[in-house]
Amino acid sequence: MRVPRVLRWIAACVVVLATGTACGGPEISVAAPDRGTVGIVMPTTKSARWISDGKSMEQQFQLLGYKTDLKYAEDDVKGQISQIQAMIDAKVRALVIASVDGGALKDVLASAGAAQIPVIAYDRLIRDTPNVDYYATFDNFKVGVLQARYIVKRLGLPRSKGPFTIELFAGSPDDNNAGVFFNGSMSVLRPYLSSGQIRVLSDETDFKQVATMRWDGALAKQRMARLLRGPLNGKALDGVLSPYDGLSRGILEAVQADSGRQPPVITGQDAELDSVKLIASGEQAETVYKDTRELAKVAVQMASSRLSGGTPEVNDTKQYDNGVKVVPAFLLQPVDVDRTNYRRVLVDGGYYTADQLAG
Ligand code: GAL
Repeated sequence: MRVPRVLRWIAACVVVLATGTACGGPEISVAAPDRGTVGIVMPTTKSARWISDGKSMEQQFQLLGYKTDLKYAEDDVKGQISQIQAMIDAKVRALVIASVDGGALKDVLASAGAAQIPVIAYDRLIRDTPNVDYYATFDNFKVGVLQARYIVKRLGLPRSKGPFTIELFAGSPDDNNAGVFFNGSMSVLRPYLSSGQIRVLSDETDFKQVATMRWDGALAKQRMARLLRGPLNGKALDGVLSPYDGLSRGILEAVQADSGRQPPVITGQDAELDSVKLIASGEQAETVYKDTRELAKVAVQMASSRLSGGTPEVNDTKQYDNGVKVVPAFLLQPVDVDRTNYRRVLVDGGYYTADQLAG
């Protein structure tokens, strides 16, 4: 796979600053310069991935000579706004933000704009504001496509007539990603719903009906339990489209509490350790792995290049219209992971150790 220029660049810079040597040049002894502080604002510590994202960015910014102020909002929208305002007041050089509510930061980011602080939207698009400079993320539509394709493949479609029964779950309605994932999945599923090869017995197929506020696994579990008591009572359930591992685990708990039920094909996202263990044991079928270390590199490159007067590398200038402008983005590629490849991708790829998966 071709390593994007941005990733090669950052790897080289990290070596330079870590060792005090110039890249490919003679040894020089330089201490990392003090370049000021970058504010990193993450949504929650409830999901392991955001902890990894935060840590990776802290390390990478520090290697480049920046101090970091890393804050978690614990899914509190107002709390996140206060954290950002405090960072603006403290004159951070740049902000990297994974929003709780992507549409709620307009006012606070107007202050960032007035103070000429560059803003990078991290993983989740920040909506309805001109004051977002770049967007570091994955191909989110493709994430949804991979999840739905996995279900389709495991059900033996398009050959098999079915009909198969699935239920749909989506993420938080205030997170732009949730709709993009869902649209990606529906682009694959819709023809099978039309042909009748796949049925959704609850009839809940609109984003609004299947969305899960704040990506809360407990809410997904409740909804799944309601469907199992209601429209699915006494009926088979062959698959569940779940966009995120935290929801998948809640859904799985509800299914497992319904005695005698055959496990459906359940998808997920983030390759969270607890879900990878469930994939290894055959309970969760799939997850979409997004290497947070790589995403951190992209965001760090965007911020540092912007701060040093350069132009950050982007590879998408069309897809991410935030309602005010199209935000230039760098999209990384998500990877489908299941029982057949999790060791190769996650252990050989250094994301987890074999011990972590065994523990
Ligand atoms: C999304 C993100 C997913 C997952 C989810 C819940 O915005 O893209 O990877 O982490 O939030 O945290």
